[in-house]
Amino acid sequence: MEQKNGVRRVRIEVRRAPDINDAMEELRREYAQIQGVYEAAIREINARLQTLDSEFSFKHMHNPIHHIESRVKSLSSIVKKLHSMQCPISISCAKKTLHDIAGVRVVCRYVDDIYRIADLLLSQDDISLILEKNYIENPKANGYRSLHIVVDVPVYISKGKLFIPVEIQIRTVAMDFWATLEHGIRYKATDEIPQSIVDELRACADVITETDYKMQEIFKALQMVGDKEDESPESIVDADKK
Ligand code: GTP
Ligand code: MG
Repeated sequence: MEQKNGVRRVRIEVRRAPDINDAMEELRREYAQIQGVYEAAIREINARLQTLDSEFSFKHMHNPIHHIESRVKSLSSIVKKLHSMQCPISISCAKKTLHDIAGVRVVCRYVDDIYRIADLLLSQDDISLILEKNYIENPKANGYRSLHIVVDVPVYISKGKLFIPVEIQIRTVAMDFWATLEHGIRYKATDEIPQSIVDELRACADVITETDYKMQEIFKALQMVGDKEDESPESIVDADKK
């Protein structure tokens, strides 16, 4: 406070409030910086999965993987998730707390293929398992089934090696069919889904699971017939004649 000619002057300092646009711009810039590394981690996982699938197909005449989907979580989804977790909205916080910034979904043909692919990937010595949630052995109350693993995968950048977490959801075509439709139903619902509908969804999931295992049995039975035919003397003679 200043006193001049008997008049009191009060000096008020007005500081500019932090601009929300500046903060958003900074967030976007940081997101763009990490996006490339997470995309590289997805490419690495995809390449390894495709190699395993091709090798299996060559050795056993069966492709365990039906198809693969992947995505890097969008900035708006990251912000929403951090907000719901009551975490500070920053990229450094997202890197520390979210393990699904890079996500890969592997859709397999049969249940055995899920474990085959997971075991083969995890046996690679530069990949480490961070987290596993087995929703096949322990389905969710609504009937959701899948094997979720989070792995650290090495990514080489100019400065060296980084280990990047990737969430991999592995499920059968049948589990994927249920999860896709259930996700659509849940997304459309404005209120919480009533228990009776949850029970119905669970019943549908159980029927689909029974069919999933039956289809696997049929496949195995036919595969055994095929193997026996391959080993039969006639086929060996035929092969010799060629
Ligand atoms: P998120 O916050 O959704 O990542 O859940 P979380 O961190 O508890 O992990 P969780 O392993 O339970 O789920 C991760 C992802 O699995 C989800 O983002 C979905 O893609 C999928 N998922 C989990 N539960 C369900 C479900 O009930 N229905 C469907 N359709 N997908 C599910
Ligand atoms: Mg998620």
